[in-house]
Amino acid sequence: MTIAMYPGRFDPVTNGHMDIVRRASQIFDGVIVGIADSKSTLFTTDERKALFEEAIAEAELPNVRCISYTGLTVNVAHEHGAHVLVRGLRGNTDFSYEFDMALMNKKMAPDIESVYLMTAVEHLFISGTRIREVASLGHPIDDLVPSAVAAALNEKFKNR
Ligand code: COA
Repeated sequence: MTIAMYPGRFDPVTNGHMDIVRRASQIFDGVIVGIADSKSTLFTTDERKALFEEAIAEAELPNVRCISYTGLTVNVAHEHGAHVLVRGLRGNTDFSYEFDMALMNKKMAPDIESVYLMTAVEHLFISGTRIREVASLGHPIDDLVPSAVAAALNEKFKNR
């Protein structure tokens, strides 16, 4: 039984993330989405977790569950019996960041493999930063994020 962890801040979860987690759920027996605690996010850790959980329920992914965590990702992966870290790759800019992170994680936890899924071409331009910016300026983002996230962003920015 191979359990994978998909770590990130997910501020907020986008259709790009959902594509990665859906594909990972078809490759591995179980996927744990790890919502990393962070002070510098638009949504709190609890909000980011709740939004990802709603998106998982909507996408009907029974072998995927969500946790939030602080500390090192590899330690949390060990605690949950995950020996694979899954990440999405959108291109060269993601690659150098991911390469450094994968090497550091390998140094700290040699038994954990990092596995990368290439993002679907229709999600290449999606990032949390772009979603937050466009939503804050009032443009609809309903076709780029799960429905619960679109509602949460509208609520966040309704008085701006
Ligand atoms: N499609 C579209 N967009 C995607 C995407 C995809 N498939 N995958 C990632 N993104 C975007 C996100 O929207 C986000 O955009 P933003 O930066 O503009 O907000 C960006 O890419 C990366 O976000 P995310 O996937 O949430 O990951 P992250 O870089 O925030 O996560 C951690 C980094 C949390 C995994 C890493 O910092 C970590 O492990 N921290 C814990 C401490 C630790 O172990 N440190 C040592 C690491 S070696």
